[in-house]
Amino acid sequence: MGNKSDRVKALGILTSGGDAPGMNAAIRAACRAAIKSGMEVYGIRRGFNGLLDGDAVRLGFKSVSNIINQGGTILKTARCKEFMTDEGVKRAASAAKSMGLDAVLVIGGDGSFQGALKLSREGVKTVCIPATIDNDVGCSEYSIGFDTALNTAVEAVDRLRDTSASHDRTSVVEVMGHTSGQLALSCGMAAGAAAVMIPEKKYDIMRDVVEVLRQAKKSGKSHNIIIVAEGVEGGAARIAEVLRALDDVDLRVTILGHIQRGGVPSALDRIRATQMGVYAVKTLNEQRFDRIIAVRDGRLTDFSIEEGVNMKKELSRDFYETSAEVSL
Ligand code: F6P
Repeated sequence: MGNKSDRVKALGILTSGGDAPGMNAAIRAACRAAIKSGMEVYGIRRGFNGLLDGDAVRLGFKSVSNIINQGGTILKTARCKEFMTDEGVKRAASAAKSMGLDAVLVIGGDGSFQGALKLSREGVKTVCIPATIDNDVGCSEYSIGFDTALNTAVEAVDRLRDTSASHDRTSVVEVMGHTSGQLALSCGMAAGAAAVMIPEKKYDIMRDVVEVLRQAKKSGKSHNIIIVAEGVEGGAARIAEVLRALDDVDLRVTILGHIQRGGVPSALDRIRATQMGVYAVKTLNEQRFDRIIAVRDGRLTDFSIEEGVNMKKELSRDFYETSAEVSL
């Protein structure tokens, strides 16, 4: 398995894309596991920007103390425009070499893994950990940050339920997720929504929402929650506009926005982050490079980045139908 010169002696860690609660726990785990296996560890600041600028700091065992419970990322994050160009990737690869890094751990989502793939093609060894509240990394059932964001969204919807119940109103709530409905669907089920609209599923506003609200009214229900994934065209604002035009419905729109990205990471996110951080270092020690760490059937595994980024995540039909079955 590889030769002696493939041994990783210096590891750079970066977080990239939207921050996600639990990224710090992953940094902590990977940093400590790497140090324990004899590597030098460097924290690269502001995602791929830090690689381009040579902006990195040596991390010790203690540098990552007291961060397991912190949201955000101590390394900061960014979406790096320059890194999207071939020139930028080449420059980043040569910067990694000048910084003396043998490998880079990328903690982020699909977009960041595309970056890692390009970097690996320029000869930099990489490993990736899925961390995005969208939970849309194709090859992994779980991405760090999802559970915390979900609980934040559900708590917010619970609060909205109090006020919409008091006023006999309908609350149309927009949940993040980029082009994915994972967060919205789970939030809808956990918050007992009357309807959930996600980009992956075609909807008929008359059948799927207006009729549901009319039925609800007939059955004596005076308030409703409708969850709209931000990836649905026009988002919650457009759905509300259409509903108002179709029926005399008293509704309010709430966009949960970046609130969903912050906060103390849940126990599940800390646990998954710790497991993935340690596993990522293990793959490097086994000299298996350019991998995405993933959860499949509840267990940790890994895929080549190339294979992983091309995998598509299917929404569970069961999940959607179960939610709809008990919505009224
Ligand atoms: O990918 C995480 C996410 O929060 C998405 O749900 C959302 O579409 C996007 O990032 C928002 O990005 P920004 O923080 O750049 O506004």
